[in-house]
Amino acid sequence: MRNSKSKPRPSSLVALAVLAVGVGACSPAVDERSEPAVSEPHAAPPRELSAERRAVEALLPLKQGLMTALTTALEEGGPEQALAACRLAAPAVTQDASSPEVRVGRTSHRLRNPDNAAELWMEPALADWVAGDTAGSHAVELPGGRLGYLEPIYLQAMCLQCHGSDLGSGVRERLAELYPEDRATGFAEGDFRGMFWVVVPIDPGSGKASEVVSEEPS
Ligand code: HEC
Repeated sequence: MRNSKSKPRPSSLVALAVLAVGVGACSPAVDERSEPAVSEPHAAPPRELSAERRAVEALLPLKQGLMTALTTALEEGGPEQALAACRLAAPAVTQDASSPEVRVGRTSHRLRNPDNAAELWMEPALADWVAGDTAGSHAVELPGGRLGYLEPIYLQAMCLQCHGSDLGSGVRERLAELYPEDRATGFAEGDFRGMFWVVVPIDPGSGKASEVVSEEPS
């Protein structure tokens, strides 16, 4: 092990996280299931359901890419260095997981990176989960033949290295440097942290999801 004694043991934490979380990274997920499951409280019409399945699948490379970036960075240098690595990796991974037809990302009610701010259509679901909604996902029909899909992200113990209240002093300093407006600390294990989101065309090949969706859901 390259890590000094004063540091937490990132490798074992990471191994735990891989087991417990299964996916995700600088912000992975969730109440993980290995199978993409659609757990809607509402009954979606069939056309939407297939868009929803495509949305669930579109999230996998994002979750996987973030997890790889986080575990690699933690193994290489512990949470302080991983912070800087995540700062570079997270936007790039998010970009890579998007395409002209499908946009993906993460957002939160308590942002670390202001670039991750919620679009208008995401706000009702965000407010619901902040208020304790237990739904596993939400789907929102958007103008232009698009479907917005959202999944909640809950914090695991390992996430608290960078999002908890008892941060190492090095981590705290690094955060102040990199994210002067950081609101994403002080969380506890199991807290709602934010959401993964996806925009897909309802009929594949018929629309672009890449334009910014700023309309209110109808
Ligand atoms: C090594 C420190 C570190 C760890 C551990 C970590 N994160 Fe993060 N997290 C970050 C950084 C840095 C960002 C900002 C990335 C960016 O600039 O886009 C971030 C951003 C996020 C975001 C995006 C929303 C926002 O506030 O910008 C979510 C959601 C998130 N983290 C959840 C988690 C979850 C869940 C875990 C545990 C599975 C976790 N994080 C573990 C450092 C960490």
